Amino acid sequence: MKASALAPANIAFIKYWGRLDHDLFLPLSTTNSMNLSACLAHTTVEFSSSFAQDEIVVRDSSGSEKRLLADDGEKSSGLFCTLDRARQLSEIDLKARAYSTLTFPISAGIASSAAGLCAFVAASFSALGLSQKVDDREELSREVRLSGSVSAARSTHDGFTEHLFGENHQQAVTRQILSANGWDLVDIVAVVSSSEKKISSALGHRLADTSPLMEGRKRYLPDKAEQLREALLQRDFDTLSLLSEQDTLNMHAVMMTSRPSALYFQPGTIELIHAVKSWREDGVPVFFTIDAGPNVHVIAPQASASEVSKRLKSCASVEFVLENTVGDGVRIIDEHLF
Ligand code: DP6
Repeated sequence: MKASALAPANIAFIKYWGRLDHDLFLPLSTTNSMNLSACLAHTTVEFSSSFAQDEIVVRDSSGSEKRLLADDGEKSSGLFCTLDRARQLSEIDLKARAYSTLTFPISAGIASSAAGLCAFVAASFSALGLSQKVDDREELSREVRLSGSVSAARSTHDGFTEHLFGENHQQAVTRQILSANGWDLVDIVAVVSSSEKKISSALGHRLADTSPLMEGRKRYLPDKAEQLREALLQRDFDTLSLLSEQDTLNMHAVMMTSRPSALYFQPGTIELIHAVKSWREDGVPVFFTIDAGPNVHVIAPQASASEVSKRLKSCASVEFVLENTVGDGVRIIDEHLF
């Protein structure tokens, strides 16, 4: 009983930070994002009577492998809970082995958990014959959210997606806004540091309410996702830029002022924020957005991709770039990793 899945990371425009419910991972508002074509997790899960215990191994882009334990943190425990949930729903009580490879650094603000959790849930459910829950993408998005992350739940659909605000498990689902070829944008991720962040997102979501700025974020959020959705539907790059940069800085203001402070920016992050703004003043259509890490996602129309990439590579703080077009959502695939 073995299955494999391929899932993309995504970059959020209106971002998920803090939660309405920490057990069901319900978000405070609707959030939206674009899937990344080149930042992928490929996961194989097998259930067998010959396994004595669950075993999960993850390999990142540097080739280093890590065996996860259930008490490694919320994201790891979410993976083990997913195996339990798949066993409970299928009534098949077998232990599992899972191997996951990622094409990009882990825990550096490039949504490794989004790609990783999404591929893991799809492969686990598929391996135990729960295919109807995988084929129904809205239902899959609920299951992925339950495994630990709203951002992972946005990787279930192709292209540009949104995970809707909901007061309960049923209402909080992912919908597609535009297909992957609906708008030719690129996300060039400028990596200024590949080290693991000191405050995990799992902890950060719980700290959000300790920031005195969080009340302001909650008042500002409600119509933002709707405005952003409209900008995507109209292919209105200026409004997309304005709303995305504003939301990045709004979220990071909350992060920095939580107790303890989750300060993800590094000197290179600030250098790139200024650089992107000055390139825009030169007439290059481009904007920045930053998730929970120091690395800067630089979004531009496909026509400006090579110019933006060239400029990024000339910045002193950029270690390397990851170039993405708009990607598809999760897929079940035949290539098994073991
Ligand atoms: C800041 O719980 O999705 O990226 O992917 O491990 O960082 P990681 O965790 P997750 O929280 C991060 C949320 C965000 C914004 C977003 O993707 O909406």
